Amino acid sequence: MKPIVIYKSKTGFTEKYGQWIAEELRCKSLPLKKAKQENLQDYNLIIYGGGIYAGIIVGLKEMKKLLSALPNKNLVVYCTGATPLEMTEKIAEVKKVNLKDYERSNIPFYYFLSGLNYERMGFFSRIIMKLMSSQLEKELNQSGTENSKVPEKSFDLSDRKYIEPLVRYVKWLTHHSHISYIIYTSIIIHVTRIYEIC
Ligand SMILES: Cc1cc2nc3c(=O)[nH]c(=O)nc-3n(C[C@H](O)[C@H](O)[C@H](O)COP(=O)(O)O)c2cc1C
Repeated sequence: MKPIVIYKSKTGFTEKYGQWIAEELRCKSLPLKKAKQENLQDYNLIIYGGGIYAGIIVGLKEMKKLLSALPNKNLVVYCTGATPLEMTEKIAEVKKVNLKDYERSNIPFYYFLSGLNYERMGFFSRIIMKLMSSQLEKELNQSGTENSKVPEKSFDLSDRKYIEPLVRYVKWLTHHSHISYIIYTSIIIHVTRIYEIC
């Protein structure tokens, strides 16, 4: 199993998580726009990451389209957002909106807490953020989150520890496929020998 991390990041959080994952898995990471020039045939596991903007994981549709032309690729999705981890229903909703029914049972999905970076946000993102603030505060209040105010300054709650379950899963998958490969090749060798003897 040869993995690659591909991401689309507007303000840097998803990119940072992508680099942490690539370091742990000792694999390549690159932005989605460069992935089009990369030979994705060389990889059989694509780990795609995108920031959540108004519930949508950026670039995921584009990534899925790119992969539809390439058979036998495993996809793992991670997304980063400012939704507190205790708002599990909201996170489940992101999964439901971004992955179709059959994809939800086949594509491993991970949510990583990040923050907000007003300095790197575009003009429209700042306006949308302002418009969304009162609705967000209402939801934070309802979920019983300690601080239900949407911060007006940048904050960063991202932490390398959040990638552990994803890294563990990919390492397990790699190990598993390696063992399957050894079993498969030893069966082939044995069958060939029996055939030669006969
Ligand atoms: C306009 C806007 C909308 C956002 N919508 C959501 C959202 O629906 N859910 C969420 O958890 N975070 C939301 N966020 C926070 C971003 O998902 C978070 O900052 C993310 O890590 C950004 O990823 P990036 O830096 O890789 O682009 C929003 C941020 C902005 C600026």
